[in-house]
Amino acid sequence: MKALVLSGGAGTRLRPITHTSAKQLVPVANKPILFYGLEAIADAGITDVAIVVGETEDEIRQAVGDGSDFGIDVTYLRQEAPLGLAHAVLIARDFLGDEDFVMFLGDNFVFGGINDSVDEFRKTRPDAQLLLTRVPDPSAFGVAELDEQGCLVRLEEKPARPRSDLALVGVYLFGPAIHDAVRAIEPSRRGELEITDAIQWLLDRDRDVNTTVITGYWKDTGNAADILDVNRRLLDLLEYRVEGDVDDASEIVGRVRIEPGAVVRGSRIAGPAIIGSGTLVQDSYIGPSTSIAEDCVIRNSEIEFSIVLRESSFDSISRVESSLIGRNVHVSRGPRVPAAHRLVIGDHGRVEISS
Ligand code: DAU
Repeated sequence: MKALVLSGGAGTRLRPITHTSAKQLVPVANKPILFYGLEAIADAGITDVAIVVGETEDEIRQAVGDGSDFGIDVTYLRQEAPLGLAHAVLIARDFLGDEDFVMFLGDNFVFGGINDSVDEFRKTRPDAQLLLTRVPDPSAFGVAELDEQGCLVRLEEKPARPRSDLALVGVYLFGPAIHDAVRAIEPSRRGELEITDAIQWLLDRDRDVNTTVITGYWKDTGNAADILDVNRRLLDLLEYRVEGDVDDASEIVGRVRIEPGAVVRGSRIAGPAIIGSGTLVQDSYIGPSTSIAEDCVIRNSEIEFSIVLRESSFDSISRVESSLIGRNVHVSRGPRVPAAHRLVIGDHGRVEISS
């Protein structure tokens, strides 16, 4: 069995974070979201992996390399534009041959991995096996309609009026029949070759399409709120490990990881939280569900339920919460007079000021 990981696309919903970088590389608990997917694939015993890349190819190649860090062998496939999930299957034809494969969307997070689904697929060998999960906002996803017996009757991509609350999870298992399907379909109204249309094509020809409704945690990390939520879930599993330099005036409470090379002075860190190497936390409070990446400086500030990416700084800011802060961002207090906010914020940035 092979794997096809989709890491192209534009990531518009995560702007401005993804103006300059791939959305699949946004870190949660200080590790790129894509890495969790690659680990899940390796854990399922799949080593032959192709990653579909677009304009952020260089960055993804740099982060993942040849895959040896994950115990997998990575081939990169360049997609000239984000022309759809089924288009990604189309361009992977030579790599996939006639083998079964799992298609994994690089911005999806599936808690507990994919072993059960892969095992089930290997046993039953349908033409396609889909994972579904109940969501409050189905119109943001591919939506499945099942009959009374629980058999799949129809799939629709982001319908305005969803017929169920069952969303397609971004992990699909396919046999070789999908190649005929992706060749046969036409681009959708949004101009993409939709994988939902390709699977519907199989359904219409009475091919074998199985579904499993999962109850475990799954997120499409398309927006900041989802990323913060995945971060919170992962940090809840952290084990206490303090390898950085923490002085006696500091207090570390709960599940906290302080990486080697991090320095904590006169601060309180209430876990779950992670502080990356090379970061200084001084006279500050870092609250629960917070990931501070590498080489940041947090001084006289209070931050909780947030992600701060590398080389950013906060100086004398209280209090920051529910925030996703990009790389090399600097937030500090201005002079008292005039009492004005001075902002340099990238396109599509969002700021809420409470005073
Ligand atoms: O997350 C689950 C949902 O993923 C499903 O419920 C939908 O049926 C499915 O269409 C997909 O919807 P999204 O709108 O979330 O897909 P998105 O454009 O975000 O792309 C998912 C991943 O695939 C992302 O890592 C970017 C990558 N991608 C996307 C396209 C359109 C590619 O590599 N190439 C592409 O052409």
